[in-house]
Amino acid sequence: MFRLESKIDVKGSEFLKNREDYLRILAEFKETLSKVRRGGPPQSVARHKERGKLLARERIDLLVDRNTPFIELSTLAAFGLYENEFPAAGIITGIGVIHGKETMIIANDATVKGGTYVKETIKKHVRAQEIAMENHLPCVYLVDSGGVFLPEQANVFPDKYDFGRFFFNQARLSSKGIPQIAVVMGSCTAGGAYVPAMSDETIIVRNQGTIFIGGPPLVKAATGEEVTAEELGGAEVHTTISGVADHLAEDDTHAIRICRNIFESIRRNEYQPMDVIPSEEPYYDAEELYGILPIDLKKPVDSREIIARIVDGSKFHEFKERYAPTLVTGFAHIMGFPVGILANNGVLFSETSLKAAHFIQLCTSRSIPLLFLQNITGFIVGKEYEHRGIARDGAKFVHAVANANVPKFTVIFGGSFGAGNYAMAGRAYEPRLLFMYPNSKISVMGGEQAANVLITVKEDQLRAQGKALLPEEREKMLQTILKKYEVEGSAYYSTARLWDDGIIDPVDTRKILGLSIAISRNRNYEKTQYGVFRM
Ligand code: COA
Repeated sequence: MFRLESKIDVKGSEFLKNREDYLRILAEFKETLSKVRRGGPPQSVARHKERGKLLARERIDLLVDRNTPFIELSTLAAFGLYENEFPAAGIITGIGVIHGKETMIIANDATVKGGTYVKETIKKHVRAQEIAMENHLPCVYLVDSGGVFLPEQANVFPDKYDFGRFFFNQARLSSKGIPQIAVVMGSCTAGGAYVPAMSDETIIVRNQGTIFIGGPPLVKAATGEEVTAEELGGAEVHTTISGVADHLAEDDTHAIRICRNIFESIRRNEYQPMDVIPSEEPYYDAEELYGILPIDLKKPVDSREIIARIVDGSKFHEFKERYAPTLVTGFAHIMGFPVGILANNGVLFSETSLKAAHFIQLCTSRSIPLLFLQNITGFIVGKEYEHRGIARDGAKFVHAVANANVPKFTVIFGGSFGAGNYAMAGRAYEPRLLFMYPNSKISVMGGEQAANVLITVKEDQLRAQGKALLPEEREKMLQTILKKYEVEGSAYYSTARLWDDGIIDPVDTRKILGLSIAISRNRNYEKTQYGVFRM
C-alpha cells in the first residue's frame, strides 16, 4: 500500500490556532471525565471504604490482567441529568482481559445512590450485554446495588428494554455459551437478586454481600417476620443453605481472585480467521489531529488527513479515488487488522452512494470490518438531484450498510446530520461500537437549517391567515431554535443519553479501534445477504 501524503502545514498559523482551541476543548473533556470518575459524593466514598470495600474502579483494576487495556464505555452517561447526582449513571461498563479472554465487565458503583438504577443506568447495562452478545464476550457482574431507583420506577421498570431485560439477556447469553459470572459484593435486592441467581457461577463476600427477593423491612411488612439482612440472605446462608451462590469470599480481593480462577476453566473462543499483519505506528503523528479536526463544522477537512493519523504506517489503498470524491473509501490496517474505511469528504450525492455500496460489497465479500468516519451534513437536496433519484441511490447505500454482516465501527469526528448519520452507520445501523470526539455534533439537521425550516413553515401558516411574522418574532424564534440545537446537538448531550458508546480523545482512536476489531473476532462473521437493491 502507498503512504498518504499529508498536505497540512503543521507550523502554519491555521494549524496552530486550531490546535490551541482543540486542546482547550480536550482539557474541559478530561476535567469532566476525572470529576465523574470520582463516583458519588465524598462522604459516600468514605463510608464505602470504611466498610472495607473497594471502589468499583479498583475492583475492575484488580480483576483484569496486569498491563492490559480496559475500554471503558459511556463514562459520561447521565451527565447533566438528575442534577449530576448519577456520575457515570452509577455503573461502570467496559471490556477488559481476564486470563487472556476479552470480557465485558459490568460493575455497580454503590457510592452513587446505593448503586441504584435510573434509565441511563439500565441503558448502559443493557448496551453492555448487547455488545457481549454481538462479540461473544463472557460477562462479569460486580454487583453492589439497591436495584431500581424507586422515585424513577415508571422510567425503569415496565418497558421492553428496562430492568427486566438484564435477566432475559443473561438467559440468552448463557444459552449461546457465553459465560455469565456474578460477584456479589454488596446488596442484590428484589429484581437485582436475579443477577446472581441467573449467572452460571456466583461468588459472594462474607458479611457484605446479600441476595434477597424482599429485604428485611418488606418481610416485616408482609409477614411480620423479623430477620436481619445477614440471616435472610447473607453469604453464609447462600453458600450453605440456599445454594444461590457457589463460592464464599472473605473480602473483595478474595472474591476477585476466585472470579479470575473461574476464568481459568473458561475456554477461549476460536477467532474469526483474518490476515493480521505486524502493527506499525502511523507515519504521521496522531497528536497532529488536534490541529486538523474541525472545530467550526463549516470548515472542510480532507478526511485523508484523519485517516493518515490513525492507520498503520499512514498507508491507504484508496478505492475509486477519482470518482465521487465527497466520500473517501479504501483499505488499510489498524494495529495490524485489516479494515475498509468510508470517510466523509463533503455532502453525499447519487454517485457517492453507489461508490459506497460497491465498496461495502467488496468488504463483506472479503470479510473485512468496516470503519465509518463521520463528518456529514447529509444527502444533497434540490430538484435536479431528486429528479436524478438521490433517494433511490441513497437507499442503496443505506441498504448495503444495514445488511453488511461484517463488524462495523463508527467514529464521529465532525458533524453527524440527517440521513447521512444513517448511511454512515449511525446508532440505528448497529455498529459494534460508536464513538464521538468531544467537539462533534449530532442532530437531525444543523440548527440554522432547522430554524429556517420552522420559520418558513410558520410564515406560510401566517400568510394563509393573511398575517405575517414580525421581525422581532422571527429573530426570537431563530435564537430559540439555534440555542436548542446547540445544546441538544453536543456530544455531551448524546453521550449522557447513550446514543453512543462514549466520547474519546482523538489520539486514542487507533488504540480503541484496534482493540475493537480484536474483540470482534470472538464471534465468527456471518455471511452477508443483501436484499433488493433498487436499481
Ligand atoms: N431507590 C431510591 N434511592 C435509594 C434506593 C432505592 N431503591 N436505595 C438506596 N437509595 C438511596 C438512599 O436514599 C441514599 O440517598 P441519599 O444519599 O441521597 O441519602 C443513597 O441511596 C444511599 O443509601 P444508604 O441506605 O444510605 O446506603 P447504604 O450503603 O447504607 O445502603 C442499600 C445501600 C442499597 C443496601 C440500601 O439503601 C437499601 O437497602 N435500599 C433499598 C433497596 C431496595 O429495597 N430496593 C428495591 C428496589 S428493586
